[in-house]
Amino acid sequence: MNNIREQENLDNKNVLLRLDLNVPLKNGLITDPTRIDKIIPIIDFLIKKNSKIIIISHIGRPKGKVNKDLSLKPICEYLEQKLTRKIQLINEDIYKLKKKNLFKDPKDQIIFLENIRFYDEEEKNDLNFSKQLASLADLYVNDAFSCSHRTHASVCKITEFLPSFAGLQLETEVNALKKVTSEIKKPITCIIGGSKISTKIGLIKNLIPKFDNVIIVGGMANSILNNKGTPIGKSIKEENCETIINEIFAISKKYPCLIYYPEDVLVGKNLNDNSQAKEINDVADDDLILDIGIKTINKIKNIIENSQTVLWNGPAGYFENPNFANGSYEIAKAIIKKNNGRSIYSVAGGGDTIALINQINAIKDFNFVSTAGGAFLEYLEGKELPGIKALK
Ligand code: 3PG
Ligand code: MG
Repeated sequence: MNNIREQENLDNKNVLLRLDLNVPLKNGLITDPTRIDKIIPIIDFLIKKNSKIIIISHIGRPKGKVNKDLSLKPICEYLEQKLTRKIQLINEDIYKLKKKNLFKDPKDQIIFLENIRFYDEEEKNDLNFSKQLASLADLYVNDAFSCSHRTHASVCKITEFLPSFAGLQLETEVNALKKVTSEIKKPITCIIGGSKISTKIGLIKNLIPKFDNVIIVGGMANSILNNKGTPIGKSIKEENCETIINEIFAISKKYPCLIYYPEDVLVGKNLNDNSQAKEINDVADDDLILDIGIKTINKIKNIIENSQTVLWNGPAGYFENPNFANGSYEIAKAIIKKNNGRSIYSVAGGGDTIALINQINAIKDFNFVSTAGGAFLEYLEGKELPGIKALK
């Protein structure tokens, strides 16, 4: 993997820079800018080298359709303020763009392409789309570790058409995770939560042979409860995942790995509701499970207390509503308490998990915080991520 840091001649070169600026938004406002703050070094580096920077990113999952709510405008504006320079957001059809006309004002050094997932071709890793993107630049840099598990055009296919390099933040994340996985101490606990069930459920079975405890909370836990015949009301769950869940439990019997999921929960009738504690069998048809209950919290604290390493991705509940944030905070506090006594190695990952840890000002209390969620878990599985492989 060649790093852009080692490249000498970048003067006046057009650099296609893939970033992951998929930050949490609420009513069009950025609720946690960590992913943007982390990529300032690569931009500063390229500016010093006098490159012309074309930023590509996605936000959310617009599924190939233009969606105003998923515009990169607020991110572009945040970046303009942070860098105190003008950045043009390009809304034009990518197929109509020409390299020689990209930078309207010769003094401009950065332009921003609108959400790349507005194009269906992005997720299809489409050849012609990648060629068109490549025609805009002289080289390509991937500084988006957190979406390097996606076989998408601006992450993978593009590397077939341009000299391609790893960015500074991508290298930092890969090195840190390499260190974690090579020096990891048992017992190891992996806590998986959040709402991207389909992304994560399939990889749990690959984590079982490696870890001593796999704790499942958040949206994914609902699918498991549902599979075990427990009522989950209107809660989010994954469809058609019986086979994979059965496999998870079958595999867990072959290894000394505990799979732990909620014993009690907090429910609401909608996302803005107050919370009500319920035993797992008492969830009503019109309830939404939105957090873990006190018994579950205590059990998780106990598991953390007896671990040497804790890897955490994804909140335990809908923490955007403070009434359902307790489970996530208690997990964070238990990890921090143990870590401050230096008796644990802790890594947290993912956009929402970072947002949550930032809310309690505790980033410094973890050994490493990765911007990556799904990519972080796939790395832990021991898989080579397609976006990283493409850089080789
Ligand atoms: C993330 O938030 O994990 C990355 O931006 C990837 O997003 P995705 O899961 O929608 O591909
Ligand atoms: Mg995310």
